[in-house]
Amino acid sequence: MSQVITVKGVSKPYDCIIGSGVISLLREKIKDVTKAKKILVVTDDNVDLLYGNRITELLTEGGFVCCKYVFSNGEENKNMETVTNILEFAMENQISRSDCIIALGGGIVGDVAGFCASICLRGIDFIQIPTTFLAAIDSSVGGKTGVNLRGGKNLAGAFYQPKLVICDTDFLNTLSPEIFSDGTAEAIKYGVIFDKSLFEKLRKDFSDDIENIISRCIYLKAQVVSQDEFDTGRRQLLNFGHTIGHAIEKCSNFTISHGRAVAIGMVMASRGAYKMGYTDKDNSIEIAKILNNNNLPVSSSFDIENLLDVMVRDKKRQGEEITLVIPEKIGKCVLKTIPVNSLKEFLKCAL
Ligand SMILES: NC(=O)c1ccc[n+]([C@@H]2O[C@H](COP(=O)([O-])OP(=O)(O)OC[C@H]3O[C@@H](n4cnc5c(N)ncnc54)[C@H](O)[C@@H]3O)[C@@H](O)[C@H]2O)c1
Repeated sequence: MSQVITVKGVSKPYDCIIGSGVISLLREKIKDVTKAKKILVVTDDNVDLLYGNRITELLTEGGFVCCKYVFSNGEENKNMETVTNILEFAMENQISRSDCIIALGGGIVGDVAGFCASICLRGIDFIQIPTTFLAAIDSSVGGKTGVNLRGGKNLAGAFYQPKLVICDTDFLNTLSPEIFSDGTAEAIKYGVIFDKSLFEKLRKDFSDDIENIISRCIYLKAQVVSQDEFDTGRRQLLNFGHTIGHAIEKCSNFTISHGRAVAIGMVMASRGAYKMGYTDKDNSIEIAKILNNNNLPVSSSFDIENLLDVMVRDKKRQGEEITLVIPEKIGKCVLKTIPVNSLKEFLKCAL
């Protein structure tokens, strides 16, 4: 069985196809969404070993001319140097404006390849094939692409929607438990922001229900993206746990993964909100419990000054204000804009 969720309300609606074995649809579906004759597959070294040949063979059998760029896995490679290398490779392989880039991998590959597609020849078609749980439920959908700069996470990027997302749940079978649970952190995030029943499902073993969990998360993301593609309002709710999370990732020199950093960020943001008097209930307790059950961390030992230094450079800052996401209760978050100079007090409450 498979499910299809269409992301609407963006310049061109696109389908996300979710299910076991759906990669077999790749050839026919590509032809529906792009006129490309040549396809540049971008992936990382781990994913290449597992799935690279299979994808290029599928494409070649489908009559496409195919080339592949492989970069080393890891957040430290999500940078402009990798982008430049991919673009140079695209030009050496004579990728033209009617051709297409496929991102085959986790969130890092998706963010980097999507950004390349957005600027290659001023924009070429782009397809996401997510291979991590996190990429399946979050980063492959919604069109946020980009790379890190020395100053912090995702500071250079573009909104650039894919033409198609193909999420074959079989790819998730090769993930380590740790990398799988990075995605669980983002799934819990959706539960806290929008959907208490999703949150409840994630309390138990959901391995038999993975297709439905992915579909539900994508549905929730598609709804919010269609209302606010460019992240000026409601979409900011998806940043729950991310302002602190990004600072933790950066302070750890990216040794703490995105999913784990967001897990800690959600607990800290909830506790900080309660202690600052922004919410009536301390939701951090329930959130920490579900994260713990999923082997995710709930605290960090970084000091406030270090975190603050990164947070004030967060791209969500607008002048002297920054918008935080605050859980009123499980299933409902709100945006709260505070002065940047209150962040220190907030962080003290959050620890
Ligand atoms: N664009 C967005 O909307 C958005 C949303 C959330 C997160 N992100 C970004 O996503 C990134 C994190 O993504 P991630 O957690 O997928 O990390 P990742 O891309 O680094 O993947 C994690 C690891 O898993 C390996 N891997 C990937 N697929 C595999 C598979 N099927 N089997 C075995 N190993 C596999 C990768 O090689 C890598 O070592 C961060 O950079 C974050 O900022 C972006």
